[in-house]
Amino acid sequence: MTATPISFQVSLPESTAKVFSQGCETTLDAFRTAGKAIVARGVEMIYQSGSQRFHALKHINLEVNKGDIHLLMGPSGSGKTTLLSILGGILTPTDGGICLLGQDITRMSQSQLSKFRLKNIGFIFQEFNLFPALTALENVALALDVKGIKGRAAKREAMGLLEQVGLANKAKSLPRDLSGGQKQRVAIARALSGNPQIIMADEPTAALDSQSGHAVITLLRQLAKEENRTVVMVTHDPRIIDVADRVTYLEDGILQNNPTAIHHQKLA
Ligand SMILES: Nc1ncnc2c1ncn2[C@@H]1O[C@H](COP(=O)(O)OP(=O)(O)OP(=O)(O)O)[C@@H](O)[C@H]1O
Ligand SMILES: [Mg+2]
Repeated sequence: MTATPISFQVSLPESTAKVFSQGCETTLDAFRTAGKAIVARGVEMIYQSGSQRFHALKHINLEVNKGDIHLLMGPSGSGKTTLLSILGGILTPTDGGICLLGQDITRMSQSQLSKFRLKNIGFIFQEFNLFPALTALENVALALDVKGIKGRAAKREAMGLLEQVGLANKAKSLPRDLSGGQKQRVAIARALSGNPQIIMADEPTAALDSQSGHAVITLLRQLAKEENRTVVMVTHDPRIIDVADRVTYLEDGILQNNPTAIHHQKLA
């Protein structure tokens, strides 16, 4: 008796998100995306409040190389913070797939995602977001505590991170006694807790004077180039373009020069 042939019905993916349906390593464009720190495909974001809908991101395709400083630039309201938050797994897109370090974060449960984030991503914000009642050392140690490094070990490691950002002498200072640039360096030390491979920064120099801004830029550059971390940064700061590897521009939620980011042309 011969076996009945099985008929296969092959259907094309309805949305780009399904490109990731077999995992990040087997995407349709795996060859092009191999070794990337971040791959985003077909990302859409629609904010809905009551009957109001706002289409903040429209079909974003983006790749970020490991070890690059990759800037997201564009006018106010163009969707930069929304995109960074989605790439960092703190905001869920309406549609689309995001692979970080080869893992599709849009298929993770909330608890898998928060573990993944804690291990792999450090966040830096424009307003520092330090706890005002905690010293510089305690702010960094608290971040380590959340990642399971506690007590003395946390304090020791926090001190090492403050040394790395040149602030060991301010370990016992409260945020109110630090300059803006120093606060941002504490925030960077905190973002480095747990040794994440990806750093996401939203306008990290916007609240800083030019000298402190320069120190922060130099530090982020070192993290990318000497430690091979990937830095994705939203900025309006033209000085940062000089140290960036790639720049991606957003306008009205649409990526310009889609899908490849522009190679920065250094001015002579
Ligand atoms: N929670 C929300 N609900 C509704 N609309 C939102 C929400 N968050 C952002 N938006 C809208 O989405 C668009 C993109 O916002 P986003 O904060 O990503 O812009 P941005 O490029 O970071 O701007 P800026 O340079 O001013 O920080 C804006 O029009 C904004 O009003
Ligand atoms: Mg923003």
